[in-house]
Amino acid sequence: MRAILCTQYGLPETLTLAETPIPTPSANEVLIAVKACGVNFPDVLIIQNKYQFKPTLPFSPGGEVSGIILSAGENVTHLMVGDHVVALCGWGGFAEQVVVKSNRVFKVPGEMDFIPAACTLYTYGTSYHALKDRADLKQGETLLVLGAAGGVGLAAIELGKLMGATVIAAASTHDKLEVCKEKGADHVINYATEDLRAHIKEITHDKGVDVIYDPIGGALSEPALRSIAWRGRYLVVGFASGTIPSFAANLPLLKGASIVGVFWGSFAEREPKQSMQNFTQLLTWMQEEKIKQHIHRIYSLEESPQALQDLLDRKIHGKAVVKI
Ligand SMILES: NC(=O)c1ccc[n+]([C@@H]2O[C@H](COP(=O)([O-])OP(=O)(O)OC[C@H]3O[C@@H](n4cnc5c(N)ncnc54)[C@H](OP(=O)(O)O)[C@@H]3O)[C@@H](O)[C@H]2O)c1
Repeated sequence: MRAILCTQYGLPETLTLAETPIPTPSANEVLIAVKACGVNFPDVLIIQNKYQFKPTLPFSPGGEVSGIILSAGENVTHLMVGDHVVALCGWGGFAEQVVVKSNRVFKVPGEMDFIPAACTLYTYGTSYHALKDRADLKQGETLLVLGAAGGVGLAAIELGKLMGATVIAAASTHDKLEVCKEKGADHVINYATEDLRAHIKEITHDKGVDVIYDPIGGALSEPALRSIAWRGRYLVVGFASGTIPSFAANLPLLKGASIVGVFWGSFAEREPKQSMQNFTQLLTWMQEEKIKQHIHRIYSLEESPQALQDLLDRKIHGKAVVKI
């Protein structure tokens, strides 16, 4: 089969297209014919050896796929050959076939398009878990989303609106903020050209924001936290800027606020029942067209290193996806 391979750690330009053997599923695994693979930020970290999971070289990046079950190990009972599925493979998705543990594979309706299906679990799964399970976002509250036109950011906007919040989307360009408005953002802030704190003050009439969704870290985190409302919740989602922020402990103290960690992958592993309930709710909203993946561009397998480079260059609005 054809696969994109990481044979040495480095930037996307070091990836190569190669012929590799078809993997064989063990008793608890399934073999999937990959139809599409969503592109996520961990993919650019894993090829540089900067991610918490460290597969042995050589490996294919690509952590989230949609496809069709080709074969299943003898212990697999909830999936059958021919089922349409989405799966969290972690890596291995930029390839024609991938083997995945069956508890990380979810059946989807046959009529669901493979392209958006491959852009569902990571972004919506993370943002729904963050807003519902970690922030307990309530109707009428104010939600600030940083990196709002990125994968998890756009999902947070849509879900925040569905959950009844007033959403302030913050991103670095005019075009990105236009996409955020299309997804329902009530207010937008361009943090490349505008003062984040002053704008939040103005929009919230000095009250501050109830929930902050931060997938970026770096220089924006402290001004955002200083703009939190009394009893606010600051969600630590990721560090796309490359810098993990540090905070003075008086900041949460002064607002009676919480700094809350979000680790969706671990949540799905440790609390599978709750995670499945979330996934079922998200699928229902998708079928009702209450939420809809924003696909920036579809890349071929050969072009998948370019997809990763575009993500690193902050060129993607919503999701990039690789069609196999
Ligand atoms: N905690 C969890 O469970 C969990 C789950 C999934 C993802 N994540 C994390 O969430 C973060 C975002 O993931 P994603 O898939 O949404 O990524 P993405 O689509 O690339 O979005 C990231 C956004 O961050 C902003 N950004 C600021 N500085 C950046 C830089 N130096 N390089 C790249 N982007 C930068 C960009 O927006 P602007 O250009 O508008 O600033 C970009 O749109 C990542 O750190 C990822 O690891 C965490």
